[in-house]
Amino acid sequence: MAVPEHPPAAHNITLAVTGASGSLYAAEMLRALASDDRVSRIHFVASESALRVFAEELGLSGRNDLAEKLLGSPCTKLRRHADSDIGASIASGSYPISAMIVLPCSMGTLAAIANGLASNLIHRAADVCLKERRPLVLCVRETPFNRIHLRNMQLAAEAGATIFPAIPTLYNHPQSTTEMAQQFVHRVLAHIGLPQPGAYQWGADERLED
Ligand SMILES: Cc1cc2nc3c(=O)[nH]c(=O)nc-3n(C[C@H](O)[C@H](O)[C@H](O)COP(=O)(O)O)c2cc1C
Repeated sequence: MAVPEHPPAAHNITLAVTGASGSLYAAEMLRALASDDRVSRIHFVASESALRVFAEELGLSGRNDLAEKLLGSPCTKLRRHADSDIGASIASGSYPISAMIVLPCSMGTLAAIANGLASNLIHRAADVCLKERRPLVLCVRETPFNRIHLRNMQLAAEAGATIFPAIPTLYNHPQSTTEMAQQFVHRVLAHIGLPQPGAYQWGADERLED
């Protein structure tokens, strides 16, 4: 049997959840990462405000077992970190993270990342991604944007982050908010090199007819 020269890379992903609206997106992202065999580790960090928004939007409370509650079962590849733990693995550039996703990303967290504050684990881990030139996806959510938000998005993009607004698509005719969130999550994962089976692709029919 032929042995592949290079085994497929194991993806080591940080998922940071902050206090913007959109807990459902975070829940769907966590589920997608947990069920993706290419992902070997999920580093999960939630800000204080994220916990508040989870309680508001999904009726979920708790800090330590939030990720397990979202998944509905234990997940061996999950590593939970407190937002205050600036000594966690992902706070160092020597720890090999493949990509970091902030979903949803509040304007407060965007501001901290764009201006290099690095004062909690989410800000620091994002700062590390930027300095190590690793993919950092900021799924910002606010409406309308003020000029400070717009400037901070530009700053973060110039430093190497992808601004990936948490805006759902309608052209795929989602039948539920879950389906809407899943399609958004699929787009984010495709962006970091993890295309998902079953993801909606505009023009897929066209290719079949070719
Ligand atoms: C229910 C709820 C929804 C919120 N939605 C947003 C939002 O969509 N975007 C945003 O930037 N902030 C939003 N906020 C405010 C943030 O949670 C707040 O600015 C917080 O300080 C952000 O902290 P963090 O970035 O550390 O998570 C919301 C707050 C609550 C309670």
